Amino acid sequence: MTSIPELISEAQASEERFLRQIFVRDQMAEWSKQPLIMARADGVHYWDVQGKRYLDALSGIYVASVGHNNRRVIEEIRRQLDRLHFSPPMHGTNPVAVQLANLLAELTPGDLAVTKFQTGGSEVTEAAIKLARQYHRLMGHPGKYKVIGRYLSWHGSTLGALSASGLKGRKTVNEPMAPGFLHVFPPSCYRCPFGKAYPECGVTCATIVEQVIELEDPETVAALIVEPIGHTGGVIDPPEEYLPILRSICDRHNVLLIFDEIITGMGRTGRMFAAETFGVVPDVLCVAKGMSGGYAPLSAMICRRRIADAFWGPIAENPGFVEGHTFEGNPISCAAGIAVLREIVERDLCGNARRQGERLRAGLEDLAAKYGVIGDVRGKGLFQGIEFVSDRATKAAMPDAFGVKVGRRALENGLLCRFDPHWIALGPPLITTSEQIDEIVAILDRSLGEVLG
Ligand SMILES: Cc1ncc(COP(=O)(O)O)c(C=O)c1O
Repeated sequence: MTSIPELISEAQASEERFLRQIFVRDQMAEWSKQPLIMARADGVHYWDVQGKRYLDALSGIYVASVGHNNRRVIEEIRRQLDRLHFSPPMHGTNPVAVQLANLLAELTPGDLAVTKFQTGGSEVTEAAIKLARQYHRLMGHPGKYKVIGRYLSWHGSTLGALSASGLKGRKTVNEPMAPGFLHVFPPSCYRCPFGKAYPECGVTCATIVEQVIELEDPETVAALIVEPIGHTGGVIDPPEEYLPILRSICDRHNVLLIFDEIITGMGRTGRMFAAETFGVVPDVLCVAKGMSGGYAPLSAMICRRRIADAFWGPIAENPGFVEGHTFEGNPISCAAGIAVLREIVERDLCGNARRQGERLRAGLEDLAAKYGVIGDVRGKGLFQGIEFVSDRATKAAMPDAFGVKVGRRALENGLLCRFDPHWIALGPPLITTSEQIDEIVAILDRSLGEVLG
């Protein structure tokens, strides 16, 4: 068998042949022109196979919450490997999964208390949808099945999660979607879909959801799923009333409110969960990515006690929660999750996310003052984005995929960020220092200057 070093040198010698053996997330033909292959990482830095260093202002993809090569997490995983690496999921669970579920019950706000573990984000948003449908069935409302999502949102690649999502570019090629999903507009204040301005708008983007539920018939609506801060669409940070209004609408119509905190959870917005940042307790909270810091695949769907209680009862009447995957509650992943949570709590990384988030925000606002092409800066904590425009007054979009050019130039300049034709998003590890924040802003500054010529 070819060794990894041989494969890597072969990759360098003959990229075409080697790179055709793998599907990557990027457009393959485009990616293979300048393939990025990371070889190692430490702290907030990556090194690619050529030895080039990158400041990771994206935590991989909002995953490396406690940084790369975190010795505490690695040692915990090692210890767990020696103890138990897999427990039979059809027959129960294991001590680390129970311990992590209890830790989460303590850390989540309100009465969010009961967890279903999985390995990826799509699995838990999908599980939340199934939980909502089965819950209503168990409570005597079998007709409540519809799920309301938002345009521009992303809840994952599996068919249910994809159907709840609102990104045409990722959906159209896979249509038809699953039935029973509908969409409302997101709270994009910068480009209000209702042509209004905050606060005179009365937060129509939230209040209109009640009309949608009423027109659909509340007896058919099971759940509303939202990211507290939308990522795709360009870091859509809602006005403060938005989520509380959704909460009260859902309460009035017996609709479960699901927060997809796969990006915003685990300290990213400056509190452990964005639910706390916005002061709203959802019925179901989904978290993944930063939860295990990327050291092992891990995700969780956490629901309120009263919802979980519906799944208890005599077997003749109640099948329990009918949902499961082979790797759920994997002990290695849960050991990583516990170590990451301890790091976040004991090192007060939420506090660091708030402080460094303010510094990052100030740096991005300085860039907006310097370059007329930045129309808006949005986000909370260490989750920030900028939107590019060619004219601030008309908010006309920048042509020629400007954001992609800036993002690619930043990559050449040694900075990893998330880029789209019209926006850029940043989500560095929660351990990022002030000096590293300044470096992120300085590289962005240089990259913008170079692209603008
Ligand atoms: C907000 C959000 N929800 C769900 C998902 C799906 O997670 P995964 O890719 O782990 O399945 C993602 C992934 O990017 C996401 O950003």
